[in-house]
Amino acid sequence: MGKKLNEQKLAVLGAGKLGGILLRAYLKQGLFAAKRVTATVRHAEKAAAQSKALGVRVTTENREAVRGADIVLLGVKPQVVGEVLKEIRPELGPKTLVISVAASVPTSYIEQHLGGKIPVVRAMPNTCSVVGCGMTGICRGTHATEADLETARAMFDAVGRTVVVDEKHMDAVTGLSASGPAFAYIILESFAEAGVKVGLPRDVATLLAAQMMKGAASVVLETGDHPALLKDSVTTPAGCTIDGIMELEEGKLRVTLIKAVVKATHRAGELLFEK
Ligand SMILES: NC(=O)c1ccc[n+]([C@@H]2O[C@H](COP(=O)([O-])OP(=O)(O)OC[C@H]3O[C@@H](n4cnc5c(N)ncnc54)[C@H](OP(=O)(O)O)[C@@H]3O)[C@@H](O)[C@H]2O)c1
Repeated sequence: MGKKLNEQKLAVLGAGKLGGILLRAYLKQGLFAAKRVTATVRHAEKAAAQSKALGVRVTTENREAVRGADIVLLGVKPQVVGEVLKEIRPELGPKTLVISVAASVPTSYIEQHLGGKIPVVRAMPNTCSVVGCGMTGICRGTHATEADLETARAMFDAVGRTVVVDEKHMDAVTGLSASGPAFAYIILESFAEAGVKVGLPRDVATLLAAQMMKGAASVVLETGDHPALLKDSVTTPAGCTIDGIMELEEGKLRVTLIKAVVKATHRAGELLFEK
């Protein structure tokens, strides 16, 4: 990997919700050294607040922040990416790795705006990164090397798991694992409501629901077994579970979830083109 990450200079442009989550994790784990990190936001008062919260330099000057940086992490909204790239372009060289987490923005768009042969990696993490349980899809642009991809992977492995995908699948990653936590919270909340309906105290119902969902997900991840096989193994003939499954099928849970991800995926393709 050449220089270790904590010897590299990192600029995080757009240290908002996601940028802040990532930066906080990097500093906590010592992945990057605070003295080599500069972050930016749009508003000066936010810069002061984030600087205090994160313990790194936070400014509103993108161009200054990327000067001499080894890695530029782009955490601004998709519609703002173009203007930020225009601003920082003069400061970047072929050795500056640009990693973008912006939904909807292709590596080719970033490459065109930067010109030259700047290595670009695109990543799509999710907010579960806040507890180290994130899921990030990653792909690389034309000029990024295998080593660049490994650097980016290390930065997202630090907050969960990563998978390298073809860029054509990045909107699908956005619709599934990046939007998915919101869908999962609705399902979880519904389980908790169900627990309340059958007489459980709300806090107990929420704990049962959350740990159950975490457990089911862990079994899938750790055994690699097909979810349908695991579902069958919990479903006793003429037992209670099959009665519940009948209700789920009648309520069209599967198709509803599929449609939610399809909609979110399509939407992910549109964001860049909005003002
Ligand atoms: N949230 C998610 O679940 C998630 C998941 C995957 C990917 N993403 C991607 O991550 C990016 C950020 O999302 P977010 O949820 O973290 O949004 P956010 O909280 O609104 O953060 C965006 C940050 O960008 C800053 N900003 C705006 N214009 C800027 C400029 N010209 N120069 C420097 N900073 C600027 C904002 O500063 P101020 O605070 O001063 O306004 C804010 O701190 C988006 O592209 C999104 O697609 C988000």
